[in-house]
Amino acid sequence: MKFILTMMSSIPYILFVSSLVVSIAADTSSISQSQSLSFGKTIVSPSGTFELGFFHLGNPNKSYLGIWFKNIPSRDIVWVANGGNPINNSSALLSLKSSGHLVLTHNNTVVWSTSSLKEAINPVANLLDSGNLVIRDENAANQEAYLWQSFDYPSDTMVSGMKIGWDLKRNLSIHLSAWKSADDPTPGDFTWGIILHPYPEMYLMKGNKKYQRVGPWNGLQFSGGRPKINNPVYLYKFVSNKEEIYYEWTLKNASLLSKLVVNQTAQDRSRYVWSETTKSWGFYSTRPEDPCDHYGICGANEYCSPSVLPMCECLKGYKPESPEKWNSMDRTQGCVLKHPLSCKDDGFAPLDRLKVPDTKRTYVDESIDLEQCKTKCLKDCSCMAYTNTNISGAGSGCVMWFGELFDIKLFPDRESGQRLYIRLPPSELESNWHKKISKIVNIITFVAATLGGILAIFFIYRRNVADKSKTKESIERQLEDVDVPLFNLLTITIATNNFLLKNKIGQGGFGPVYKGKLEGGQEIAVKRLSSRSGQGLTEFITEVKLIAKLQHRNLVKLLGCCIKGKEKLLVYEYMVNGSLDSFIFDKIKSKLLDWPQRFHIILGIVRGLLYLHQDSRLRIIHRDLKASNILLDEKLNPKISDFGLARAFGGDQTEGNTDRVVGTYGYMAPEYAVDGQFSIKSDVFSFGILLLEIVCGNKNKALCHENQTLNLVGHAWTLWKEQNALQLFDSSIKDSCVISEVLRCIHVSLLCVQQYPEDRPTMTSVIQMLGSEMDMVEPKEPGFFPRRILKEGNLCTNLNQVTSNDELSITSLSGR
Ligand SMILES: *[C@@H]1O[C@H](CO)[C@@H](O)[C@H](O)[C@H]1NC(C)=O
Ligand SMILES: *[C@@H]1O[C@H](CO)[C@@H](O)[C@H](O)[C@H]1NC(C)=O
Ligand SMILES: *[C@@H]1O[C@H](CO)[C@@H](O)[C@H](O)[C@H]1NC(C)=O
Ligand SMILES: *[C@@H]1O[C@H](CO)[C@@H](O)[C@H](O)[C@H]1NC(C)=O
Ligand SMILES: *[C@@H]1O[C@H](CO)[C@@H](O)[C@H](O)[C@H]1NC(C)=O
Ligand SMILES: *[C@@H]1O[C@H](CO)[C@@H](O)[C@H](O)[C@H]1NC(C)=O
Ligand SMILES: *[C@@H]1O[C@H](CO)[C@@H](O)[C@H](O)[C@H]1NC(C)=O
Ligand SMILES: *[C@@H]1O[C@H](CO)[C@@H](O)[C@H](O)[C@H]1NC(C)=O
Repeated sequence: MKFILTMMSSIPYILFVSSLVVSIAADTSSISQSQSLSFGKTIVSPSGTFELGFFHLGNPNKSYLGIWFKNIPSRDIVWVANGGNPINNSSALLSLKSSGHLVLTHNNTVVWSTSSLKEAINPVANLLDSGNLVIRDENAANQEAYLWQSFDYPSDTMVSGMKIGWDLKRNLSIHLSAWKSADDPTPGDFTWGIILHPYPEMYLMKGNKKYQRVGPWNGLQFSGGRPKINNPVYLYKFVSNKEEIYYEWTLKNASLLSKLVVNQTAQDRSRYVWSETTKSWGFYSTRPEDPCDHYGICGANEYCSPSVLPMCECLKGYKPESPEKWNSMDRTQGCVLKHPLSCKDDGFAPLDRLKVPDTKRTYVDESIDLEQCKTKCLKDCSCMAYTNTNISGAGSGCVMWFGELFDIKLFPDRESGQRLYIRLPPSELESNWHKKISKIVNIITFVAATLGGILAIFFIYRRNVADKSKTKESIERQLEDVDVPLFNLLTITIATNNFLLKNKIGQGGFGPVYKGKLEGGQEIAVKRLSSRSGQGLTEFITEVKLIAKLQHRNLVKLLGCCIKGKEKLLVYEYMVNGSLDSFIFDKIKSKLLDWPQRFHIILGIVRGLLYLHQDSRLRIIHRDLKASNILLDEKLNPKISDFGLARAFGGDQTEGNTDRVVGTYGYMAPEYAVDGQFSIKSDVFSFGILLLEIVCGNKNKALCHENQTLNLVGHAWTLWKEQNALQLFDSSIKDSCVISEVLRCIHVSLLCVQQYPEDRPTMTSVIQMLGSEMDMVEPKEPGFFPRRILKEGNLCTNLNQVTSNDELSITSLSGR
């Protein structure tokens, strides 16, 4: 045996002793010394999750040694030993040598073998439940000190517990390599691992070209990662010290299966989660996720915004290097500083919501803080940017960038990205005069902020005390008697592909709305209440409780909800046609809604509102009725949505009072906006505005009319008095409208927006007035909430211009 040991180090290895080898039984999880695994035999990890053996991918003349998931029908391969070197003959053998090497031989020629540095006394190879094939020395004190492990030599798949990165002691890069194709596990040139820049980061590489990066670890997450969500599947971490630098994730629940795979054909890296219901891998997330994820899609000193076009723009203080190319949309040339740096007198401008630049030319000093970092960067004229290495808590450590800044992404939402300070010449920074003013402003702001802060803390404290008393059990108890189906967070994350940006269909005041597809194929809309939004548990439970009790074809249907940790989700039926505002305020789409359809929508809204105000068991005041809260199904039937602000009353009560005025400017009744008094009549006011918007195709905001600046209500009132109301009609309904019906609608809407609640009709009267030729009282001057209207042209929308969709929900505290 000693003789064989020395022979092992020379290639090719020749096997002399095949007759001594004892074949092993299939039900073990280990191969011990002088045992071997022959074609058709396997070993299985102790709890049966993974299996090791020979397999082929369609062509039996190309067989491989590998590890696969044992308990799922597709038996997906997670690891391949001899990817580039298939076996064509079933007489192949895997055996463990007494030196501690696993050797795969075929016709006495070594096809593949492990490479451990240390020699073993009493080696054994085990297939662990993690899917890791390890060689240990049974005599060694530390059984976790492996002589070799398959996790160090991954194929295209990362499973729970695997580390991707660098073992610095062994100078070993542990990375994923995609298969050349689905039936050829030869490692391709599409890889994913860590590059050891001073500030190390993970790259998806195509050959030696960078293909995608998610940004360096910033102490909280990857700089270009999604906002930290309470993901139900896995925990992840990034570790960086003198011995190793790696990324690792582990499953939260051992009965789940998940894998992360790099794919040369698809050119991506995707995570899948196994679904027991459909017996298939559910697609969970992917990179690249949007065009800005492609490395270097914009040039140097540019940033990429996935949500706007053109995607590439120069950084603040920079201009296109080649304006001609720039204007012809070739934006890979890069940008240069508008004014040269002065070096000594330069300053820094903070930019937020960024994936920080490529870290190739960086310098890291973990021991200094942000202020020292600035000083240090300022001293070196080629230092172009800096920020904290760890943004967790108050922030710590220093990273500086030298030379051009590359592959920066700007996130549309403030939950993502981080701050970067970029160097700019004095002329690009605020002048001294500005500085003095801003100092004064700062002091004022500081005082105001302090006062505000004290108030805010007081209110937050009050709310927290209220929220905390509702422990998780009590939330569940509160929801129990409501009979709302509770969804599993995993079901929803899979349905929405882990809240993929592409699946986002809207952004409400309280958080984004995503489209999703349940495993049965049913489409859903998921409202994800942002943890930063004002909507706390109280509003969440209000909405769930209220809407669960409501059943009406003009109200959107709640399918269920989900609470897990900070995550609060509402699941609704999906409305194919989106919201009403996307039609009536859009120049092109507004043509799709002719007058009969608009009238049908108006009547639907009236019926829905009537049900809320009168017919349901409770009396419900919606408080945030507006065009973006009216959804349209495939037949353009309107459905009122978003009950987060709604209030319910039993008995005869029809009004309430609040010191927390919430709603949307332009739709709020004066008594509500000013005094916080709400009633069914404040809903009627909002309905009046909505009605006017549907007829006119304009938002209730500043409009220009004969040198006057009025809002839509003021404008309508002016034309009504002049008996010119026909001028209000949206041009898209001019051909299809019944003039008397439209005039009746304008009349009703003016009655709905009267100054005093008692002058406004109830929804019962509204439906009567719209549905018959009855005589109506003349409206008095409407009470429109006076908006401060600036006389500047850009705020004053031309009547024929399409208005932008920049609605704002507000929450304000009015003094009592
Ligand atoms: C496998 O090899 C045998 C013998 O060389 C050959 O006859 C057969 O066609 C091969 N099969 C495939 C699928 O290539
Ligand atoms: C089988 O593979 C060996 C090398 O592993 C090669 O020398 C031999 O020609 C192959 N035989 C067939 C039939 O493909
Ligand atoms: C595999 O190769 C061995 C040795 O060369 C030979 O005896 C055996 O017949 C081959 N088996 C097949 C299935 O080709
Ligand atoms: C097996 O190896 C012997 C000698 O090493 C060679 O002559 C023979 O062709 C090989 N057989 C196969 C099937 O590769
Ligand atoms: C690590 O290995 C690479 C080749 O893979 C070599 O170029 C480099 O010098 C090695 N580094 C150290 C520190 O040994
Ligand atoms: C890569 O993705 C393609 C589809 O894009 C799929 O057909 C193929 O099976 C995948 N390859 C691997 C090795 O999983
Ligand atoms: C793990 O998942 C299984 C099956 O989905 C479930 O029954 C079990 O309660 C989960 N365990 C934990 C700790 O969440
Ligand atoms: C980052 O800072 C936080 C808070 O100061 C600290 O708890 C954490 O350990 C730091 N992370 C790293 C990687 O240094």
